[in-house]
Amino acid sequence: KMMSTATSGFEKVGVIGLGLMGHGICQVAAVSGIHSKGIVAYEPEQKFLDSGKARIEQSLAKLVSKGKIAQENADSALHNITFTTDMHELADTDMIVEAVIEKMDLKKEIYTSLGKVCEEKTIFASNTSGLSITEMAQFSGRTDRFLGVHFFNPVQLMKLVEVIKAEETDQAVFDKCYAWVSEIGKVPVSCGDTPGFIVNRLLVPSFIQSMLMVDRGDATVKDIDLSMQLGAGHPMGPLHLADYIGLDTILSVMKSWKEGWPEEPAFVIPQCIQDKVAAGHFGRKAGKGFYHWDGDKRGDPL
Ligand code: 3HC
Repeated sequence: KMMSTATSGFEKVGVIGLGLMGHGICQVAAVSGIHSKGIVAYEPEQKFLDSGKARIEQSLAKLVSKGKIAQENADSALHNITFTTDMHELADTDMIVEAVIEKMDLKKEIYTSLGKVCEEKTIFASNTSGLSITEMAQFSGRTDRFLGVHFFNPVQLMKLVEVIKAEETDQAVFDKCYAWVSEIGKVPVSCGDTPGFIVNRLLVPSFIQSMLMVDRGDATVKDIDLSMQLGAGHPMGPLHLADYIGLDTILSVMKSWKEGWPEEPAFVIPQCIQDKVAAGHFGRKAGKGFYHWDGDKRGDPL
């Protein structure tokens, strides 16, 4: 297969949703400095726009304080982002990355509106980790200009981006987005529109197996994590990482996989994650999960 020599040519890029993933995607795109017409960051509500902006400012300040980027680079990145609650500002973007919560109904609503608001040329890219991209594309009025670009948390630090070709994604569109990922300083890999793509297809079953060990009382939370850290060289053990990502998010992925692929024996839902989510113990963001958390600092097992 010939290597593609495409460049993105993207001058103006949009990000929808400034939460956990979206704020990071917006920041990374802005810091790259490659978009001559800037980045448009859209949230329908002012309070979410403000909190997303604050998160970007905090992360940039951290990177500056650690000498990872220069102050003037951080300033120009922020300056390059237009924060808006008006979807029409996205109309003339070359590509939009959507990073809203994982609810098909919400995505359906957004893509239906976006499809009408945006120019023909605008490519839509979903950062979904659990939903079918091929299904989402049906609402956008542009199934050939629709694909997945899946970032990892924390977006500012994790180098990988999975670029996902849906059934009808045009090859030239795919190549441009694949090139864009490199241009913003990340490393692209490609995968078909399959459950979990590459990383989560391997990661989530490791969460499932660790949680089943907890259910059976085979080993403690601490020992499971310590084992994968010191025995397999992972930076965080699976239960630590699950808390870090959010147990509610992971449970919703497990549920949608089990529903969508009932024949796949690897997709089971352990009892302990259901109990924790029912109790509101979502992990890091809730202060409790498999561990106690104090902000970003992990404490003792619960
Ligand atoms: N912006 C700026 N700085 C940040 C940051 C951010 N968003 N997040 C963390 N940092 C800082 C930390 O504050 C820390 O600063 P400090 O040294 O001053 O305290 C520094 O970056 C590095 O952190 P650590 O010292 O903790 O260094 P680590 O070597 O442990 O690296 C890590 C942290 C990169 C998060 C590493 O632990 C890791 O790779 N963990 C695994 C993460 C992972 O697997 N992510 C994928 C999850 S799956 C996913 O996202 C898919 C989705 O669909 C759910």
